[in-house]
Amino acid sequence: MKPVSIGILGLGTVGCGTVNVLMRNANEISRRAGRAIQIAMAATRDPTRHRGCDTSAFELVRDPHAVVEHADAQVIVELIGGEQEARELVLKAIGNRKHVVTANKALIAVHGNEIFEAAQRNGVVVAFEAAVGGGISIIKTIREGLAGNRIDQIAGIINGTGNFILTGMRDQGREFDEVLEEAQRLGYAEADPSFDIDGTDAAHKLTILAAIAFGIPLQHDRVYTEGIGGLTREDIGHAGDLGYQIKHLGIAKRMPEGIEMRVHPTLIPQRRLLANVNGVMNAILVNGDAVGPTLHYGAGAGSDPTASAVVADIVDVVRALTTDPENRVPHLAFQPDSLADVKILQQDDFESAYFLSLNAIDRPGVLADVTRILADLQISIEAILQKEPPSNEDTVPVIILTQETREQYMNEALSRIEALDAIPRPVKRIRVEHLHD
Ligand code: NDP
Ligand code: HSE
Repeated sequence: MKPVSIGILGLGTVGCGTVNVLMRNANEISRRAGRAIQIAMAATRDPTRHRGCDTSAFELVRDPHAVVEHADAQVIVELIGGEQEARELVLKAIGNRKHVVTANKALIAVHGNEIFEAAQRNGVVVAFEAAVGGGISIIKTIREGLAGNRIDQIAGIINGTGNFILTGMRDQGREFDEVLEEAQRLGYAEADPSFDIDGTDAAHKLTILAAIAFGIPLQHDRVYTEGIGGLTREDIGHAGDLGYQIKHLGIAKRMPEGIEMRVHPTLIPQRRLLANVNGVMNAILVNGDAVGPTLHYGAGAGSDPTASAVVADIVDVVRALTTDPENRVPHLAFQPDSLADVKILQQDDFESAYFLSLNAIDRPGVLADVTRILADLQISIEAILQKEPPSNEDTVPVIILTQETREQYMNEALSRIEALDAIPRPVKRIRVEHLHD
């Protein structure tokens, strides 16, 4: 059979990885796809620059529109990143009746509803496995492998850069900025690394996971998001003293009143598998009513692992070229006319246990005042730890672990505690999830 031609937009970390994997495993890939896959054209901003992949077998251009307009390319692989230009190019490709593969989670999370609607109208596939969890095939697993389940909860480490930083700070005592620089050098970080740090990247991925797990539209602006920028080595140490690890989690939960979608640093008991996922590795815990807990683990970023997911999508699309568009796996797992309008819960309605870190002036009765405030709001205490004060301080660090409560009550408790004159600084609050993996 004639080879399938594809066009690639972007030959950076993921683009070059994709070229390398397509070339290295060409024989295996064509045996799986049923046809050879050849690159007709690729675009980069600077085609003269030397890169880590062999570009001699295809035309390399500066204009990404030339790729999208290429007469032979049946599949366009979007790996330039960003939102606006990528949206324009992908919609143009769809309009030209070309299938699309993308690793761009920002694009899917923010513009996915529009893109899938256009794809549906034009009878083409938009595949996005690499957008979540790097090389882990979590989209396919939830969309197809777990299609018989009612999914209740997803909790995952879904940003490789953030996990790499937290692991480096904890295990090697390194500074935040130094580990971030290494993640950038290794190609893990986003073009704008603040997306990795402030939780935006994880929120993009959680938006996608929640949509395919619960059959709801993509709603990126409804994800509650906190990053890892405020975490210190002391926080990590105090959590360790209590038997917990701090991980940056994306959590989507089905609650009786609606759906929680949140991204924030989280204490997890050390014995949980998720607590032991380190470095650039990602892991996603999915709870289905039939299957129970399942945990999906692998490299969350990097050239070859991400290319693994991109190439798997290319193979899937090639296999689907001759299928009837009406009978393909729906983009968001549920049929487009069956997406549910479920309430997305606000922060006040979240339910969680909490780790509180406060500095208290060292005098009798202060701790009693703090615990009374918690008791008045029906918040039970699980553990209290008073640490040695640093020699130059007149306050003592106090760590409190609470049982589960509604976030509204915790917010009220924190404002009352911070109003005490013996608590001179804001209280740090980190949510705790016990999980069951
Ligand atoms: P890079 O910055 O390494 O690569 C981007 C590539 O796109 C570069 O080759 C760049 O050209 C090219 N490019 C950018 N804008 C244009 C344009 N207007 N016209 C032509 N070419 C353009 O990014 P990554 O490979 O890291 O990421 C690509 C996508 O994959 C992003 O959406 C990212 O979020 C996603 N992703 C990344 C992962 C990773 O581990 N890095 C993992 C999973 C997803 P030039 O080289 O000449 O500058
Ligand atoms: N910057 C992202 C991360 C790339 O570190 O997880 C993978 O999506």
